[in-house]
Amino acid sequence: MLNTNCEYLRPEIMDVLRAFDMEEGEFTHYFSYSGGKFLNVIEYGSEFYDFTDEFEPADDLEYKRFAKRFAKLAFYKTLSKTTGKNLPWGALTGIRPTKMAFAETAAGRDFEKLFKTLCVSEENIALVKRIMDVQKPYRGGGKSLYVSLPFCPTKCDYCSFITAPIQKTRQYVDRYVDCLIKEIESVRDIVRGVRSVYVGGGTPFVLSAEQLEKVYSAIDGVMPRGAEYTVEAGRPDVFSEEKLALSKKYGVTRICVNPQSFNDKTLEAIGRKHTAAQTYAAYEAAEKFGFDINIDLIAGLAEETCADFEKSVEAAISLNPANITVHTLSLKSGAKLKESVKRLHIDEISQMIALSRERLSAAGYAPYYLYRQKYQAGGLENVGWCKNGKECIYNIDVMEELGDNIAVGAGAISKRVFPAGERIERFDSPKDIPSYINCCAEKIVKRIEFFK
Ligand SMILES: C[S@@+](CC[C@H](N)C(=O)[O-])C[C@H]1O[C@@H](n2cnc3c(N)ncnc32)[C@H](O)[C@@H]1O
Ligand code: SF4
Repeated sequence: MLNTNCEYLRPEIMDVLRAFDMEEGEFTHYFSYSGGKFLNVIEYGSEFYDFTDEFEPADDLEYKRFAKRFAKLAFYKTLSKTTGKNLPWGALTGIRPTKMAFAETAAGRDFEKLFKTLCVSEENIALVKRIMDVQKPYRGGGKSLYVSLPFCPTKCDYCSFITAPIQKTRQYVDRYVDCLIKEIESVRDIVRGVRSVYVGGGTPFVLSAEQLEKVYSAIDGVMPRGAEYTVEAGRPDVFSEEKLALSKKYGVTRICVNPQSFNDKTLEAIGRKHTAAQTYAAYEAAEKFGFDINIDLIAGLAEETCADFEKSVEAAISLNPANITVHTLSLKSGAKLKESVKRLHIDEISQMIALSRERLSAAGYAPYYLYRQKYQAGGLENVGWCKNGKECIYNIDVMEELGDNIAVGAGAISKRVFPAGERIERFDSPKDIPSYINCCAEKIVKRIEFFK
């Protein structure tokens, strides 16, 4: 439980506590500001820790920004001292570190200096620099289209995405697809000029070939061919030649084949209901069609050791995909696993992440985008890696918020990015499928207004 005399600092502080897996500790926090001095006093385990930082803010906005920064830093230093641990991102809790680094640079400041103040590790500063280099050519930004298909064969235990097992939602799929088609047609004028499309899930390939073709055909009707076009086909157990051929026919350029792990024991433990052999088969089938392929892995699953994870990284590399995305397990509410896993093995997961960076770099992969999520073990991150300049533009544009994202379907959040990314407006749709179907017509009208 956190007691603080400054409520607006609570979410920031909680982010730091969560990164140390210490949400439930007894902390009392006193904050005060006077004459350019920010004071943070933390009472923890009958000890007091006090920090004074000097800074003269130019306005209220800057005052709040620095109050948050110093409070986080005070908690980070206290916890680092009492636990004996340094976290790789230090007191930097934001979900878009690269966006922050670009913003600092654009403001004429040295992002490295800021990151060092926040106790970010040398390795992470170097990683951010590598990503910034890869992203430079894309910084102008572009519009993107997202199409949500939140249906899955079964629900994986660790997953907190808004998606349900198809057995529970099958009766809605046809109506859902009809709504989606109307939504796609309604954004015809808005999507003009988009440079990437992403059909995401869930697991889009859980739809029948007929349903999938309806969605593809609607997208084809509003999009000129030639944009990057990803389908998060998803779990290897739903792949088929027919659906891959259909994807090719409609101009899909990139397919996700997601094992998460190449260890059958782990896959069983997390309720994935497929095997590593099925991943190899799905990969081979997708490769024959000439798609760029992305492989998703997660570090920290079930009881995996670093050696288990290493096996998955090596297996992914041996397939030579254009992209490999390494996620750190994030346990949000909504995931079945949340109740069963009390403490994550943060040190071991950090080693897994370090290993993935070393192996992927040695295999010729470059990191091209990075994001963090709340509830991520050790406050670690997700990194997308690419080979031979095959970055996924969609991931860069959306994670860095470089351009408008026109998003349709249940739970989809459209974003309007105003010049220089300074202001961002969001437009969302209901997450549950019956409500989405119910208000689709109304959302169509409102989304057009939103993008005017
Ligand atoms: C929206 S999911 C869809 C992927 C697809 N349905 C599949 O599972 O193959 C995108 C990716 O997020 C990652 N992911 C899902 N739940 C996660 C969690 N709790 N922690 C970390 N990564 C997660 C997985 O790597 C997954 O492939
Ligand atoms: S990880 Fe993928 S397949 Fe599993 S429930 Fe989540 S979205 Fe569905």
